[in-house]
Amino acid sequence: MAAVATGRSANESRRDVRHLFTRAAQALRAAKNAYREGGVVAVERLASDAAYWRFSPRVRRWARELPRQEAADRAFDAYYGTETAGEELLQNLGIAAGDVARGNGRYRPVWADVFHQALAALGLDCERFTFVDYGSGKGKALLLASDYPFEEIIGIEYSPELQRIAERNIERYRGREQRCYQLRSICADALRFEPPNKPLVCFFFNPFDDDTMRAVLERLGESARSSRREIYLVYTNMRNVREHEDVLIEHEDLVLLSREERYLVFALQPCSG
Ligand SMILES: C[S@@+](CC[C@H](N)C(=O)[O-])C[C@H]1O[C@@H](n2cnc3c(N)ncnc32)[C@H](O)[C@@H]1O
Repeated sequence: MAAVATGRSANESRRDVRHLFTRAAQALRAAKNAYREGGVVAVERLASDAAYWRFSPRVRRWARELPRQEAADRAFDAYYGTETAGEELLQNLGIAAGDVARGNGRYRPVWADVFHQALAALGLDCERFTFVDYGSGKGKALLLASDYPFEEIIGIEYSPELQRIAERNIERYRGREQRCYQLRSICADALRFEPPNKPLVCFFFNPFDDDTMRAVLERLGESARSSRREIYLVYTNMRNVREHEDVLIEHEDLVLLSREERYLVFALQPCSG
């Protein structure tokens, strides 16, 4: 009767009910696994993550914007003969299972307009600076950065597959506005990367979980203490910087210069040492 009243066939209603039961069973399984691994706290975290992805206005704004940005990424690649667009799961890219979560699980290219807005907010005279992209993926940020007159541009990427693609992209890219040709992409774990002893712009497009971010900041802080120089950090997140900003905002060596929905800009000024 209900099916007739809503204009849905009995088969469609049965399919919906089956789908509902499948989803409920999946959620129950995930909750059981979380409980086994981390008790009530882990189940609470699972529930709040699920609610965030399902209901958060930030995620909805990002999801609405995504198709336009993905079309722009594809147009960029078609124009320059590069391969940067699309999403890749790190588990399919030669990353050890234990390291996938440290790297937030997936590759995505930075949105070009957010990248340029963040660099405009930084407002630097780039010639004296080396640009370092921590977690450089297929090199989109490296290519975009090469339209600025940086002294050098370096990408650090721990997936050998993505790193190879970045190298190919660097060879292919000839931007109309290109100002820097000293680009290189290194295959390494950011945790083991020694920052160059130069003035730096360190770029992060949501590459790490909080512990990895803390460890990378620690290393940058040590480097700044042992050799005083200008170091700036640009953190971007295409949904909202709030997802990971506490690690940065609360860091005693970081001075916030600019904060927008999708990027943060800091100066690294070590307090002691
Ligand atoms: C969201 S993608 C950003 C790609 C690129 N920076 C861009 O803006 O287009 C993050 C990248 O960080 C890489 N990554 C995550 N953890 C890493 C680590 N510990 N060392 C090096 N690369 C890492 C991932 O493999 C992924 O390619």
